[in-house]
Amino acid sequence: MIDGGITPQAGKVEFYRHSLGEAEKAAMGRVLDTLFLTTGDEVYAFEREFAEHLGVPDVVTVSSCTAALHLSLLGYGIGPGDEVITTAMTFIASATPVFHVGATPVLVDVEPNTGNIDPAAVEAAITPATKAIIAVHLYGTMVDIVSLRDIADRHGLALIEDAAHCVEGVRDGYRPGQLGDTSCFSFYATKTLTCGEGGAIAVRDPELAERLRLLRLHGMSKNAADRYHGKYEHWDMVALGWKANLTNIQAAMLRPQLGKLEGRRQRRDDISHRYDDAVAAIGGIERPTVPDGVVPARHLYTVWIPDGRRDAVLRFMGAEGVGTAVNYRAIHQLTWLREHLDLRFPLPHAERIGAETISLPLYDKLTEAEIDRVCDVLARAIVETR
Ligand SMILES: Cc1ncc(COP(=O)(O)O)c(C=O)c1O
Repeated sequence: MIDGGITPQAGKVEFYRHSLGEAEKAAMGRVLDTLFLTTGDEVYAFEREFAEHLGVPDVVTVSSCTAALHLSLLGYGIGPGDEVITTAMTFIASATPVFHVGATPVLVDVEPNTGNIDPAAVEAAITPATKAIIAVHLYGTMVDIVSLRDIADRHGLALIEDAAHCVEGVRDGYRPGQLGDTSCFSFYATKTLTCGEGGAIAVRDPELAERLRLLRLHGMSKNAADRYHGKYEHWDMVALGWKANLTNIQAAMLRPQLGKLEGRRQRRDDISHRYDDAVAAIGGIERPTVPDGVVPARHLYTVWIPDGRRDAVLRFMGAEGVGTAVNYRAIHQLTWLREHLDLRFPLPHAERIGAETISLPLYDKLTEAEIDRVCDVLARAIVETR
């Protein structure tokens, strides 16, 4: 079989395995039997269903979370001369769209116990040029969204949520998209709701939703499906847009997953508690805390290995056949960003987390034996690297 070397390896605990199966195959098959492979009825149905699932007025699907963040900034007309505050402890895509629109990213530090953006640091970083905050729900634990909403309102800023890790999370009774102006989701291959690549924007303002729909498809007044129905009418180009639409094939794959998200979250919650117990028993390892009032999405399970031993632990676990990942090294320490960011604040907590972090396998298909094996290999790694 030609698989690019990505068939699961016997005996290895993979870092991630998706849970797509017969329902998703059948849904894609239905699309292949129709005329419209690209944006059409499946996409519109998924947008309605996902909006209902999140409890938000509208969802605009796009090709990635990166595009969702980019279009959110464009939707607010953010550009040269504007500043956008975001976190140093995230994936690079939380900050790169700020460069793409010509604005200035301002990185602030995170809470030492969660790794999430620190609202006090956000408030301290606001200047007359600040236009937006991009808040990342790291690992699936929502940021202090109530405080950030309050800060955004008092300073007249857009609050953009990077919810790439957090379809399922809740904090203080709010889900992603319910307090943010836009909330950006990722359906990338390793996410808990996936179609390989894809994204969505939850949006509360109908005018902004309209604009985002234009921006995702060349600024065209009609897409292919609209043009097909009824008699031909000319389309117009009414904005300078991008090509960032989702296809019917992708949307069909996503729809059957919505009803399974909470059950799978609970399974990952159980696995996380198993890891918590193991980490406590091993000793000498820290882990992020989940604050009161949070229902964590449990996208990633991360441990923090102190004393400069992280990379040695990574190597040991890899050699023992346990897949791991680093989410993330602090982004201002990566070459291009180091050269292009103008740092205004020290970022010690993000740097500490970036130097210590390891993500363990976390998905509902993990077997009991695999969970035990991850715990055992982690314990031995800590002893061996002392
Ligand atoms: C926090 C965060 N933001 C943004 C993204 C970008 O998502 P996408 O790959 O869908 O563009 C990711 C992807 O892993 C992410 O983890």
